Amino acid sequence: MNVPFVDLKAQYRSIKSEVDTAIQDVLDNTAFIKGKHVENFEKNFADKCNTKHCIGVGNGTDAIEIALKAMGIGAGDEVITAANSFIATSEAITTTGARVVFVDCHPDYYTIDWTKIEEKITEKTKAIIPVHLYGQPANMPEIMKIAKKYNLKVLEDSAQAHISSINGETIGSIGDVATFSFYPGKNLGAYGDGGAIVTNNDEIAKKSRMWANHGRIEKYNHEFEGVNSRLDGIQAAILNVKLKHIEKWSEQRRNIAKIYSNKLRDVKNITTPKELTGIVPVYHLYVIRTGKRDELQNYLKEKGISTGVHYPIALPALKAYSYLNHSEKDFPYSYQYQSEILSLPIFPELSDDQIDYICDTIKEFYMLS
Ligand SMILES: Cc1ncc(COP(=O)(O)O)c(C=O)c1O
Repeated sequence: MNVPFVDLKAQYRSIKSEVDTAIQDVLDNTAFIKGKHVENFEKNFADKCNTKHCIGVGNGTDAIEIALKAMGIGAGDEVITAANSFIATSEAITTTGARVVFVDCHPDYYTIDWTKIEEKITEKTKAIIPVHLYGQPANMPEIMKIAKKYNLKVLEDSAQAHISSINGETIGSIGDVATFSFYPGKNLGAYGDGGAIVTNNDEIAKKSRMWANHGRIEKYNHEFEGVNSRLDGIQAAILNVKLKHIEKWSEQRRNIAKIYSNKLRDVKNITTPKELTGIVPVYHLYVIRTGKRDELQNYLKEKGISTGVHYPIALPALKAYSYLNHSEKDFPYSYQYQSEILSLPIFPELSDDQIDYICDTIKEFYMLS
């Protein structure tokens, strides 16, 4: 049996007529940039996130950079974030001119370890960016307490956690601002690049919208130099269709995660994901840990099962951050886990047979090895 890591074709097939109609409407109305589809999506997505504003932008990386700039963060400032994320998070800090300050991940939940944030705060610290990694909300109540104590801004990097929650609060509505990616493989994915900024703060919303559109609100009245980063009409129309299905898809992801965790519970040498109390995760990724990661990944590949590693090199260990002169002792868990983590296939259309096959193959590997 062949099991892909994600199957975007299966999802397209399940909503084909809705998507095709939506795209045709954009073409018929030539609403390529701005227009009703973008406006509708911004409104609908803000509603789902429980926020007042949503600004569609070109991608999730721009969303972080623009939101930081809209909060006045730049050269001379420091921004704290997780040592284990996709480089987009830290890259966007650097492109504002600010300095990245990494914090290790929590040993059980893989999101930023909130107990290690305070020791990294200096006079220059302006913001914290928790990443809701793998679709698991970071410990926002504790992070917000720290932010309040030190008067720091909080940007929730929600690229992997569309419409999840913690203690009943929707991810994206808890910090000062939150950013999303609509990269095709994300839980809410476009058919190209796309991103969004959501916030309840009028000033951050206004500045973000201006930054993303050449520093203007009205045509040709540019108040400052910004960038060109806009969500386009076709992507917005597709996202509007998909948004109607997101809760159902998230439920399917949670069910799959539950089945995996039950079936793999008795396999020694594997650690399945743990959930922080109070969260409703959305399992963008289902990540296990094992000392034999590479051997297991190869074995699964031989048996037709595609897996991934998110991410194989902790951010501080990347050449891009060699100037920070970090070593393993600074981020023990992020460094240890980079060679242990393995992401199993997870997408709403994954069938019970496929899950059984994956779990049986994992068990077979441990019996043979
Ligand atoms: C945690 C995280 N932040 C930011 C991004 C950047 O999003 P995009 O690829 O849309 O620029 C991603 C996407 O891969 C991500 O996973």
